Amino acid sequence: MTNEENLIKWDPKFKIGIPLIDAQHEHLVNLCNDFYQSLLKSKGTDTYHTLVKQTLENCLNYAATHFKEEERLMKASNFDGYRQHKKAHDAFTAKCEATYENIESLHVSEAIKFALFLYEWINTHIAHEDRLYLPTLVEFLKEQQTK
Ligand SMILES: [Fe+2]
Repeated sequence: MTNEENLIKWDPKFKIGIPLIDAQHEHLVNLCNDFYQSLLKSKGTDTYHTLVKQTLENCLNYAATHFKEEERLMKASNFDGYRQHKKAHDAFTAKCEATYENIESLHVSEAIKFALFLYEWINTHIAHEDRLYLPTLVEFLKEQQTK
């Protein structure tokens, strides 16, 4: 855990060098931080479930939008690791959906555990797996520019 307020501190190491993707990743990290902050601020109050549900929903909706965009680019550039990468997105989505479905009964300790899972996943996925499609995508985007 980085500090009390933010679950994930945006770090230059998360940047992969494609502005569109970097902006989406940064936004996703911000939404995960919103979720974590809402949980810390509202725990033990009447607003806990409403706030946690709302911020998690924002996070998951945006993750879906971002995955769609990444998958579109991976396909367009004929990245040969597409299927494996999509599997990682789908597994993440399935776990998030299962948690979201049980949000009404999600205890603070479980919500914190889930926030940590988000942190770990984003940290490793952006810092490692997203870099795998980078050479193919950079080449593809270069070709598009010269067309
Ligand atoms: Fe990805």
